[in-house]
Amino acid sequence: MRLGNLINYEIKNQTAVLEFQGGEAQVEVLTPAIINVYQGKPEERIPSKAIEGEKSVPVDIRTEKKEDGLWIQTGEVSVRVSDGFYVDFFDKYGAETCADFRGERRQLQRVSDEFLRLLEEEGHQSSLTGRRECAFDVVKKMDRSSHFYGLGDKTGFMDKRHYDYEMWNTDNPDPQMDNFKALYKSIPFFITLTDSHVYGIFMDNTYKSYFNMGQESEEYYWFGAEGGKLDYYYIAGGSMAEVLEGYTYLTGRCPLPQRWTLGYHQSRWGYMTLEDVEEIASGMRENDIPCDVIHFDIDYMQDYKVFTWNQERYRNDPDAFLRQLAEKGFKVVTINDPGVKKEEGYYVYEEGVENGFFAKTPEGETYINAVWPGDAAFPDFGNPAVRQWWGDKQQFLLDRGVRGIWNDMNEPASFRGPLPEDVVFTDEDRQSTHAEMHNVYGHYMAKATYEGLKKLDGRRPFVITRACYAGTQKYATAWTGDNHSLWAHLQMAIPQLCNLGLSGMPFVGTDIGGFGSDTTPELLARWIQVGCFSPLFRNHAALGTRRQEPWQFGTEITDIYRKYVKLRYHWIPYFYDLFYEEEKTGAPVMRPLVFHYEKDKNARQCNDEFMLGSRILAAPVVSQGMKRRMVYLPEGVWYDYWNGEKVTGPAWIMREAPLDTCPVYVKAGSIIPTMEPQSYVGEKPLDTLILEVYPGEGSSEHYLDNGADFAYRDGKYHQYRFTVQEDGTVAGEIVHAGYEKPYERIVVRRFGCEDIDLHI
Ligand code: GLC
Repeated sequence: MRLGNLINYEIKNQTAVLEFQGGEAQVEVLTPAIINVYQGKPEERIPSKAIEGEKSVPVDIRTEKKEDGLWIQTGEVSVRVSDGFYVDFFDKYGAETCADFRGERRQLQRVSDEFLRLLEEEGHQSSLTGRRECAFDVVKKMDRSSHFYGLGDKTGFMDKRHYDYEMWNTDNPDPQMDNFKALYKSIPFFITLTDSHVYGIFMDNTYKSYFNMGQESEEYYWFGAEGGKLDYYYIAGGSMAEVLEGYTYLTGRCPLPQRWTLGYHQSRWGYMTLEDVEEIASGMRENDIPCDVIHFDIDYMQDYKVFTWNQERYRNDPDAFLRQLAEKGFKVVTINDPGVKKEEGYYVYEEGVENGFFAKTPEGETYINAVWPGDAAFPDFGNPAVRQWWGDKQQFLLDRGVRGIWNDMNEPASFRGPLPEDVVFTDEDRQSTHAEMHNVYGHYMAKATYEGLKKLDGRRPFVITRACYAGTQKYATAWTGDNHSLWAHLQMAIPQLCNLGLSGMPFVGTDIGGFGSDTTPELLARWIQVGCFSPLFRNHAALGTRRQEPWQFGTEITDIYRKYVKLRYHWIPYFYDLFYEEEKTGAPVMRPLVFHYEKDKNARQCNDEFMLGSRILAAPVVSQGMKRRMVYLPEGVWYDYWNGEKVTGPAWIMREAPLDTCPVYVKAGSIIPTMEPQSYVGEKPLDTLILEVYPGEGSSEHYLDNGADFAYRDGKYHQYRFTVQEDGTVAGEIVHAGYEKPYERIVVRRFGCEDIDLHI
């Protein structure tokens, strides 16, 4: 129900406390660019699950009650709050950026219930099937030039305009296509880019929610949720980068990972024994394919019981085996699912029941559904005591030498139908329901795992999660779940990973080669050409599918695979810089072209190219049979990575792209910090830095630390600044010296020139 006229208001610090006919609301200024809009009684407000700590900074605000409403000005943003609790935003020059739509929503004409039933009988679904009324909606005017980006891991292309989505963490292993409304993650944040403005909206609501980005009308877009309160943040900025900086200021940033996590990961559901793993490890080294990580899927557990080890298939002495693997440079990441097998005498189950750590039925019994181990209970991760218990349980895996934890099935997935909405969960210190906690289940599991690892291990925790909410980036990297070995899914990987990056999740990847269905040699060869650029670099496949380790398809494919894995290792110093930059600013590692070229209409709609930081552009081939492709290069001068050819953008060019070629371009004035490829990160000491230089005016910073722990936060890192001139000459300086093992040698490499040493 829309509120009535504004009756009264009071400015308390930076918050306008508003009394309308029919209810209360407030508008709070957190920073000059971030404004919160909340409807409800202040004392009923539930603390955010995405935002931790105090985010409000002192801002000099000016308020004025005018005829058209109450105006609040921060210097960056003006907000007008009018009768009916319409809230409009303006930029510092007074131009409207984001205003509430005053008309009535006009829901699309749909068929009657009778026809809906008929549709469903044949297995069809209408997009209205299962939809419920929203507890509130926010309807915003849509500019004709609007593009929408973000919204987490949604299917489809970069620009979300004209589509509608749902936020309800969903595990659906069918091939995920553009008609899927929801996947594993709920990140209710998007960036709106118009010809004149850019801003972000974060709706902080964990209930099932809807984002209709102009699918219903050309005049407006709307978002709303089935429960909870209207509570959203408007984030202003002069660019997408600034908006994302604001959003990640609010919800947190992905901390710098351990350096080895940026290497190659090999995984498969179905490495049934340690011998299988051994074979993979040898295969990697014999085929000269760098690899840092092997993942153990559910096969390593006893009867799929979490925190157990299958003594028969994964031998009695996993510790010794993992040590041997470690000696060869391999780190092991184990899967860890939330569903705890219901079994008398199983310690995790018994401890959980005894302490009341599992979700309960409304009658107070432990709630049971089924997952891999059969009947299973669900840890109540919203409860801090449960998180601590779960965090401490990681010791079992750390004791065996495990180096990272892969949290799966944490939507939570359940095999006997969805968990009823009234299943009782905890939200910190109060009782809650599945309806409210579903979308943060994976978030809290990741948090529990991260905090446990941080406490027990001390190094930077490496956690991968499938389900997320806004803010999960503080704890985990993520993969996009069960894709298939389909060209459509290779195509989707680019916008999906880029939109995750624009949603604050920079450390993401897809299952290279595809998880479900059988891959093909050509698909695998092309997928590795996208995968080597994705922040999380893992080949993973489902039980029963065709094997897709790099050498499964003969020499040609193995050679191509090796070429791109080695390229990745070569670039690890650059990747590491991007992660450092991300922790400072929130800028994603893998970026859509529009992130750097907002005004460029081609960049806004580009789905088959992307950037790695601001300096490298990749234009992979993502269609079967294609041996050349059109590449779009935005303004500026670019160098072809493979042949050094210079191209001036903006331009469309035709590039030959035989199976072993992924077109890659580097911006003039770039210095790419690289290293000689190694079989794994740390095989050889990182004592030589190779700067690949692309003439033009430019400068960039390069970051170095021990790649392992949190000492960098106490200043134990080195930072270099390099500049390059039009003639290709390079100069360097150290801008921060805190790491005890800086480079011994810095080499400048230019296309077609002899390497030269740089002395600084
Ligand atoms: C889920 C995961 C997949 C994993 C499988 C078995 O489908 O998404 O990655 O291999 O479960 O654990």
